[in-house]
Amino acid sequence: MKYCIQTFGCQMNENDSVFIASLLQSAGYSKAESMAEADIIVVNTCCVRQSAENKAFGYIGSLKRFKEKNADVVIAVCGCMVQKDGNAAAFLHKARHVGILCGTFAISRLPEYIAEYQGRGEVIVDIEQNHQQPEALPIDTRFTEYSYKVQVNIIYGCDNFCTYCIVPYVRGRERSRAPQHILDEVRALAKAGVREVQLLGQNVNSYGKDLAEDSWDFARLLQELDEIEELRRIRYMTSHPRDFSAELVDVVVDSRHICHHFHLPLQAGCDKILAAMNRGYNTAYYGRLLEIIRQKTPNATITSDLIVGFPGETEQDFQQTLDFVAHCQFDTAYTFLYSERSGTPAAQMPQQLSAEVKKERLQRLMTIQNPISLHHNQKLIGQTQNILVEGPSKNRNDHWYGRNDGNKIVVFPYIADSGIEAGSIIPIEIRQAQTWNLYGLLRSPSCEL
Ligand code: SAH
Ligand code: SF4
Ligand code: F3S
Repeated sequence: MKYCIQTFGCQMNENDSVFIASLLQSAGYSKAESMAEADIIVVNTCCVRQSAENKAFGYIGSLKRFKEKNADVVIAVCGCMVQKDGNAAAFLHKARHVGILCGTFAISRLPEYIAEYQGRGEVIVDIEQNHQQPEALPIDTRFTEYSYKVQVNIIYGCDNFCTYCIVPYVRGRERSRAPQHILDEVRALAKAGVREVQLLGQNVNSYGKDLAEDSWDFARLLQELDEIEELRRIRYMTSHPRDFSAELVDVVVDSRHICHHFHLPLQAGCDKILAAMNRGYNTAYYGRLLEIIRQKTPNATITSDLIVGFPGETEQDFQQTLDFVAHCQFDTAYTFLYSERSGTPAAQMPQQLSAEVKKERLQRLMTIQNPISLHHNQKLIGQTQNILVEGPSKNRNDHWYGRNDGNKIVVFPYIADSGIEAGSIIPIEIRQAQTWNLYGLLRSPSCEL
């Protein structure tokens, strides 16, 4: 029996898909080369914005024909979209070819449900929130996208309830993993050749708050992980600006392996909107945080997320965001149109903005941010940077690419027989810069491989 998994959404879902693959493999299934030969199709869905839901729903719809032609195939839909209020009922009504609906709290039961469905043929729905968080299975790099860089969950769920966001409703309350499990896991991965680990959580800064042992927090976890000799890079995603302290910046600066990359989602550069979003900080606080980071590590890469068109955002409010974004000088900002999520407080707010206004604002925001991104990249020209190689470039023949400490993509001409392979760390001299990419040349043939 063979399975295939289609994943939508963020790193949490990618990680859950690795977990699902490990579970299915231990239950005796093997990975299908393509959907055509799959007996089980798992769709791991996201609902953070309507566009994400549309994508997943479109994909699930496209499986209907496949199911008609292959009656025995089992289609299981997992992930955040299933967990969202009212969605399971909609699936049962509109997508009758789906056999299993398995929410984010129930994925460890998927092999059981598949067997049960194959036996009885009745639709199975599990969107219970009360399941005990299963201890993550050891990450098996056969199922991760890369063998040399992996993502490790340190905390599940979110307690922040930003008023626009569905995540706390579909992922539940914060649950930190036991520190010893995380450390053992990362040590084993590093021994097996993993060079970069990305720690995952909706708010990694909350790590440890719910643990019985109160001596554990995110800073201590980072420090312990930094001791692992074989590791070369530690990243983490996502930090809440409200919980990011000057002490944590010191931990990063004093470390050997923690990347000097700070991803601090600002969301809006207007205090009125930040308050309405329930973000827990204002622009003065955020600006000070950036000053501290830049003072302690001037070459840091600072990136952010921004939402345009939050309910009640006036032209003046938006102008404040534009001005503050110009002030912050982010290396990159991921920009989103506000998407109304039913069940969240923001969806109930008056003055929802039209799609036209939101789109026009997004354009203007990008017009401000893109030249700033380009400018940051241009400043790197002439510098030599360590690049963790990922593989052949998708756009340029005979070129490969990798990422620098700030997670920026660097493309370079591939030298045959150089021994360079995915997972190598090589020095590249930056020669050209674009808004999203850098281009460079291998600095010296005696690079570390
Ligand atoms: N926990 C992380 C990431 C959450 S989702 C954090 O707090 O940053 C990733 C990004 O999606 C968010 O940072 C936010 O910018 C965006 N997002 C979340 N809900 C959204 C919504 N309803 N509409 C538009 N963008 C949204
Ligand atoms: Fe959503 Fe806010 Fe939690 Fe991030 S911190 S997942 S934006 S509620
Ligand atoms: Fe989407 Fe769920 Fe992640 S809603 S962004 S897959 S936590």
